[in-house]
Amino acid sequence: MNELEAAANLLRQGELVAIPTETVYGLAANAFNEEAVLNIYKTKNRPHFNPLIIHSNSVERFAEWGIYLPELALKLASKFSPGPITFVVPTSNIVTDMVTAGHDSVAIRIPNHPLTLELLAMLDFPLAAPSANPSTFVSPTSAAHVKQQLGDKIKCILDGGECKVGIESTIVSFLESTPRILRYGGLAKEQIESTLGIKVNVPQVSGDTSKIIAPGMMERHYAPNKKLIICNDIKKEILNYKGLSIGSISFSKKLDNIECKNQFILSPSGSLDEAARHLFSALRSLNDLEVDIILAEKFPDEGLGIAINDRLKRASVH
Ligand code: TXA
Ligand code: MG
Repeated sequence: MNELEAAANLLRQGELVAIPTETVYGLAANAFNEEAVLNIYKTKNRPHFNPLIIHSNSVERFAEWGIYLPELALKLASKFSPGPITFVVPTSNIVTDMVTAGHDSVAIRIPNHPLTLELLAMLDFPLAAPSANPSTFVSPTSAAHVKQQLGDKIKCILDGGECKVGIESTIVSFLESTPRILRYGGLAKEQIESTLGIKVNVPQVSGDTSKIIAPGMMERHYAPNKKLIICNDIKKEILNYKGLSIGSISFSKKLDNIECKNQFILSPSGSLDEAARHLFSALRSLNDLEVDIILAEKFPDEGLGIAINDRLKRASVH
């Protein structure tokens, strides 16, 4: 039996399997098996009010399960799916409250990874899959990251190499007449707007957790176990932390006053896509290194820079 068949069988039996996607690795289970889905929450230590994204390999298959994309969503799907976008649409009876956390909407996505697309085609159910990390920690972008934190809790990690996008999907809600981005991610807002020919709404912030629109967008998230500070100029900021061992995350510039091994330059050539790809592994490495504090540069607020700044901000909440 090959690796994919073995993974498919485990999923059919209600087990969890870690799957590669272009964004981050997911912790997958049969979305129609309540017990299997419950096990995702337990394994991640994820709060039950935070719903899951379900994954399959085509828009047509979602329609077979009674989940339909409205016109604007279809327009985006025909251009960007499979790809780093998740659609929040009205749910179907077949999807349990365990997946939607009782909401009357469901989040769906077609991930762009050859192994996982093949796996999804073998299954007659969609896969519920959050990122394969303990709740609130940084998402995994390689099989080794998953193994490090959840290896003893899951039977199978499908190794599909390093994630090519490296940051979670952009979540767009189609519940209002104008689409609204709920989470910035691997597909840039500019690309969504130019495809639709309209401006979309942006995430709503609410201090009242019962009213959070993307329920998972808690303030603290993606967080290493170290203090992280965002600044415009690391060279200046560092003067405030004399005597401490400093780690840094910068866009493209090398910094003279920080030890090389503690310094993470996300894209020497200045590409925001490349920077997004390297962000989470840099956060993980800094978490494991002997640094007292992490200084991160604020990225340009455009393209994937918006998602990078969003993750850094959440990582900075302690
Ligand atoms: O790239 C990704 O999206 C990855 C890969 C594995 O596909 N998945 C991922 O899942 O990031 P997770 O569970 O870490 O984040 C899913 C987010 C959460 O913030 C959750 O609150 C939101 O999606 N979500 C799920 N269902 C929703 C719904 N019906 N309405 C609004 N937000 C929803
Ligand atoms: Mg996550």
